Amino acid sequence: MPSVLTDEKIPNNVNLSSDKRLQRALEAWQPAFIDWWKQMGPVGWQERDIFLRTAVSVETDGWAHFDYVKMPEYRWGIFLEPKQEGRVHGFGDFAGQPVWDEVPGEFRNMLRRLVVTQGDTEPASVEQQRDLGATAPSLYDLRNLFQVNVEEGRHLWAMVYLLHTYFGRDGREEAEELLARRSGDQDKPRILGAFNEPTAHWLSFFMFTMFTDRDGKYQLSALAESGFDPLARTCRFMLTEEAHHMFVGETGVQRVVRRSCELMKQDPNGDPRALGGIDLPTVQKYANLWYTLSLDLFGGEVSSNAADAFASGLKGRYKEDRYDEHKLVGTHFAMDVLEGGKVVHKDVPMRNALNEVLRTEYIKDCQRGVDRWNKTIKDAGIDFELTLPSHKFHRQIGMWSTTHFTPDGEMIDQATFNARRGEWLPSEADEVYIKSLMKPCYEPGKMAGWIAAPLKGINNLPAEFEYVRA
Ligand SMILES: [Fe+2]
Ligand SMILES: [Fe+2]
Repeated sequence: MPSVLTDEKIPNNVNLSSDKRLQRALEAWQPAFIDWWKQMGPVGWQERDIFLRTAVSVETDGWAHFDYVKMPEYRWGIFLEPKQEGRVHGFGDFAGQPVWDEVPGEFRNMLRRLVVTQGDTEPASVEQQRDLGATAPSLYDLRNLFQVNVEEGRHLWAMVYLLHTYFGRDGREEAEELLARRSGDQDKPRILGAFNEPTAHWLSFFMFTMFTDRDGKYQLSALAESGFDPLARTCRFMLTEEAHHMFVGETGVQRVVRRSCELMKQDPNGDPRALGGIDLPTVQKYANLWYTLSLDLFGGEVSSNAADAFASGLKGRYKEDRYDEHKLVGTHFAMDVLEGGKVVHKDVPMRNALNEVLRTEYIKDCQRGVDRWNKTIKDAGIDFELTLPSHKFHRQIGMWSTTHFTPDGEMIDQATFNARRGEWLPSEADEVYIKSLMKPCYEPGKMAGWIAAPLKGINNLPAEFEYVRA
């Protein structure tokens, strides 16, 4: 396993040049990817020098190499974590048996669906964010946006590598489809709901990277446990990149919150909107929206697909080795379910509850981020608390989608929900107001008025560094 990437057309650490057929197939896909990037990637800025991190190897000092690069020249490539000799299945019916280096025939379709579903989210988010370069609150933020975008492009490469390498002709067709679907398109939408929602401004971008990229972390973590070893190794490396995306989201919202608190103290009526800021109740509404859209991504609460993916060793739990028991036969998970129109707490066979198990871990992680936002508010001496709404609120997938709940988790009828919706979720007027704040601020070190400066810059550089060259 070469850890240092060679200077090939497609940077990689998978010894691509030893497999000429695969190399040719991927080299044929590459121009289609670049076309897609130019057509659907960031609007503008493509000829500018952006200070970006590019992976040059999977070693700790090699995957965070920083330099100025023009986005279309970014070295998208294929990086897998090194193979662990003797690795065995960590869970499911095959626990303890050697992991697979090839796709097992009986699980081929399930595995392909997992890879395609994950792969589809990567270009989708780039499409959702493509207009944001026109209105960034600073060069620091602009650079972070483009970092996220090029890495989502690389994540697409990661999944396409698996499709081309292990799924023959179907895999090649799926790889083409990944470039053909479009976020929000009526006829050819992306596969999952949250990836068809517009990310029309920077508050939504920060909420997306906080909540929706964090769903990605949990899905990738579950796939990083896979007994299909190439998938596990691919996802492990993707997770190192994903951490930065969530940093962008969590600290982005935190800076909005900090600025809001400053402006509340400056305005005689305590209203940050009067001074061009974003008030905390509006921050709460956007958190409610993106958090609940992201909860949907975990799928149905009781799911035979989840049970099958676990049984077959393809998709595990978050950090499987923290658990003592890895077969989950005859065990149960206590959870709320909807039965005869009522919420009941009951035991569900563990394998069928695995979507809910993963969602529960995700919720705890989101709460830790919200706690840090609340500390910022408290430190500013403001009496306000941001909260995560109930997991039953505003759901569009799964059992809770059939009825309505308040953010506190109280069941209500549709009329009440409709009447109160604007208290809980962004209204048309909120959206118009947030968009009205979105004016670009491209002087090095300067920030738009609705957001505080970051505590430090990227790669330990100062905030006033020229992250995007004029
Ligand atoms: Fe990603
Ligand atoms: Fe991401």
